[in-house]
Amino acid sequence: MLKEIYQPNPDIVSNAAIRGMGEYWELQSRAKADYEGFWEGYANRKIEWFKPFDTVLDESNPPFYKWFSGGQLNVAHQCVDRHLATKKNKAAIIFEGDNGDYQILTYRRLSYEVNKTANMFKNMFGIKKGDRVVLYMPMIPEAAISMLACAKIGAIHSVVFGGFSAEALRDRIEDAQAKLVVTADGAFRKGKPYMLKPVVDKALEARCECVNAVCVVERNGEEIHWEPGRDYAYNELIKSQSHVCEAEPMESEDPLFLLYTSGSTGKPKGVQHATAGYILWAQMTMEWVFDLKDNDTYWCTADVGWITGHTYIVYGPLAAGATTIMFEGVPTYPDAGRCWRMIEEYQINQFYTAPTAIRLLHKMGADEPAKYDLSSLRVLGTVGEPIDPPAWKWYYEEVGHENCAIVDTWWQTETGGHMVSPLPGATAIKPACATFPLPGIMAEVIDEEGNPTPVGEKGFLCITKPWPSMIRNVWGDEDRYISSYFGDCKKEGKPVYFSGDGAMVDEGGYITITGRTDDVINVSGHRMGTAEVEAAIKKHDGVAAVAVVGKPHEIKGEGIFAYIVLKSDDGVADELETMKEINGIIKQEIGAIALCDDMAFVPDLPKTRSGKIMRRILRSIVKGEAITQDTSTLEDPSIVPTIEEIVNRKV
Ligand code: PRX
Repeated sequence: MLKEIYQPNPDIVSNAAIRGMGEYWELQSRAKADYEGFWEGYANRKIEWFKPFDTVLDESNPPFYKWFSGGQLNVAHQCVDRHLATKKNKAAIIFEGDNGDYQILTYRRLSYEVNKTANMFKNMFGIKKGDRVVLYMPMIPEAAISMLACAKIGAIHSVVFGGFSAEALRDRIEDAQAKLVVTADGAFRKGKPYMLKPVVDKALEARCECVNAVCVVERNGEEIHWEPGRDYAYNELIKSQSHVCEAEPMESEDPLFLLYTSGSTGKPKGVQHATAGYILWAQMTMEWVFDLKDNDTYWCTADVGWITGHTYIVYGPLAAGATTIMFEGVPTYPDAGRCWRMIEEYQINQFYTAPTAIRLLHKMGADEPAKYDLSSLRVLGTVGEPIDPPAWKWYYEEVGHENCAIVDTWWQTETGGHMVSPLPGATAIKPACATFPLPGIMAEVIDEEGNPTPVGEKGFLCITKPWPSMIRNVWGDEDRYISSYFGDCKKEGKPVYFSGDGAMVDEGGYITITGRTDDVINVSGHRMGTAEVEAAIKKHDGVAAVAVVGKPHEIKGEGIFAYIVLKSDDGVADELETMKEINGIIKQEIGAIALCDDMAFVPDLPKTRSGKIMRRILRSIVKGEAITQDTSTLEDPSIVPTIEEIVNRKV
């Protein structure tokens, strides 16, 4: 049985930054009373400005908010160079490869590598401030180095997760009009090499005229195709570059990076982040939420292709001057003890991962943590999806030995950094609960009109005031930015940021996230838009209509389930074969992360008379829930029991 409230051991977890809830409430009241003053103080203290800012927050053109206008800074300077005076020989990045090989980059070495890479981008590929560079990289130090090198010269990076297909990569290259693609031959996973460069070759076969060059890091040494005049060897070119590179002075609002993410409709959106606000909040949350101390070793298991990898492997830890682990492999190779062994070996103090990984590690080796000395741990983090109480309990008891704080951090690609999270050592923690908004963050659970929802009732999780690390735009599409985030909820008559998540508040003010309210599926903590998956499935010649929904999955949290209507009434001769063909198309169009776990071939979909598909009914059917929705408005209500029967037969 889980208790209602957990208070971590104060001898082990002691947040030096925010001591207790008294201080939390005081900070939050200060932010409410003088919002700009609150942020001004932190911005002045935390950032090494090249030129001070004149305005804290410019709200003159909502929702295009500007933070710290007039100021100049450089993120690579903030993350690397400014630490050289005090941390020259401190480990900045500790890399561990799939096979156990490792590399330590001190702050000085990192600065040296970033400068050489920045000079290479500038001198060899003509990259200047504002140019877009796509990084299609494995989890190797060169991924972080390339991100920082872009920041150093003011180029805008767009990291594309290495699991995305050539088609998906091509769309992202085209949308951003990238000049340069940085990739690797491949890397290693579960003891074997896997490839990335062939995917880049395929992506560049069509369109992508914007790309002048591909810069290839050698990691696994496998043979790759080489396109003369387009492909360049990173490891060769870098040798002749100077290790001195001036940091480009960047305006606070200059874009730092784009990161594509799925929405409920259409193609993925290029979430655009700005320079000053993003790095400020990345650093502050790193310090607060992970109770960071100077001698700590911190490990986040995310991939740099996702926002968690951006903010909490690279930018946050380095801005805070921490030692961050970068891990190429998977948690279950060579066995389910890999993570716990690494925690013992590096004496990790903070471990940050997704509930999917916790469930997997629990299932594969519940007794594994007991075999290792995990006493260095103080803070255990989770992110990306709701964590279920059994997984939480195992994490707390078997990994944290009831001594560590578990920080269930709620945030999104668009928020840039943590929004709602416990503060270790300050917050009394409720299992599987994101608890309270961080100081300075005005997160509220409201209805469409902006009224707080009554205790225990679901509402919309909104951020009712702009915050420094918020999304600034959808790359090249201002209308989509407004309609995606500022269309649904209002407070005091003014549009406010709606996250797409539902949440509930209890009598103590604790916020529990209840999950997406839109058509976004959360597969293993990764966001997948139903529209994207459906568009891929429709490319199969035999498919007349399709609706995709999330289905609860023991490990992944949610899996993808597709209801498919075929063009021919005769049904399918071989369901398995057709499913394979459809999944083959999904793999090609998006990547293996979007594969359907299961499909049902149905005669029709439940549609209203105006043609809208009632997904809620489809979600209920796949969960085996009773249909509570009114089906009388459907074009053909009899389709519901027919679909139910087909799905039940499968289960
Ligand atoms: O639904 C929420 C879920 O992940 C979504 C954001 O996905 P993405 O932009 O890919 O970023 C993931 C990493 C920050 C949210 O809209 N989510 C994130 N954290 C939590 C969560 N759901 C429940 N609890 C969380 N702690």
